[in-house]
Amino acid sequence: MSLTAASTPGVDSHFDANLAATKETLRRIAREFTPAVFASSLAAEDMVLTDLILRSKLPIGIFSLETGRLHAETLGMLDRIQETYGTEVALFKPEPAAVEEYVQKNGLNAFYDSVEMRKECCRIRKVEPLNRALKDKKAWVTGQRRAQSATRAELHVQEDDAAHGMQKFNPLADWSEEDVWHYIRSNNVPYNPLHDKGYPSIGCEPCTRAIQPGEDVRAGRWWWENPESKECGLHVVDGKLIRIKQVS
Ligand code: ADX
Ligand code: SF4
Repeated sequence: MSLTAASTPGVDSHFDANLAATKETLRRIAREFTPAVFASSLAAEDMVLTDLILRSKLPIGIFSLETGRLHAETLGMLDRIQETYGTEVALFKPEPAAVEEYVQKNGLNAFYDSVEMRKECCRIRKVEPLNRALKDKKAWVTGQRRAQSATRAELHVQEDDAAHGMQKFNPLADWSEEDVWHYIRSNNVPYNPLHDKGYPSIGCEPCTRAIQPGEDVRAGRWWWENPESKECGLHVVDGKLIRIKQVS
């Protein structure tokens, strides 16, 4: 039985309205922007969207960027999705030659050395595969939320992603973290076990640590860097956030 928003402490009173709006956004993407794809990091927000897309059998493909540096727990979500929904997530991996060149030249973990080295690793392991995943699509979907970080405070549900030449949808833009967990618990959605071990935000293993109570939810991502540099390039181009304009 589904819980109601009112029965879960901390859940935004607008939960039901947010959920209805998110479902309508996903239906509209399926109706008007096929072929569309959803980029899943396999973390909590993305499991909400996975559940919404697959339960309604919406024609939105789901892919993950398998960087080669993900936690075993994160990779384990691929099987959980297959078992739960009977659907395989498409994987996009980095070009082996580019990874090899980076590692040979700089070392396996050179991303700790400088922001430039970190961004170059993200470019090879995430950004270039993302561009392949988005080729010839009309829209892509992400699990970003406005409340996740200062850099996402201006996030819109629908954006004109001029860099990729398509629409970009963030259907959970208005959701709180409590809303995400309320949805997951009330619908028995499988989730990455790392979330129960102090990891509210999960990226690659060497670049993600658990956080302490009271720390910012993204404090464990690239924790050695300043907060301003903490975007991996999936949602920025040439150092600028892809937030060209809102489409009403
Ligand atoms: S990141 O830019 O800092 O890595 P974050 O982990 O918050 O992003 O995820 C934001 C959104 O980016 C996710 O909801 C998802 O849509 C997309 N994303 C992040 N990592 C991946 C990944 N490995 N594969 C596919 N999509 C991803
Ligand atoms: Fe490389 Fe870390 Fe970026 Fe993953 S998050 S691509 S390991 S720098």
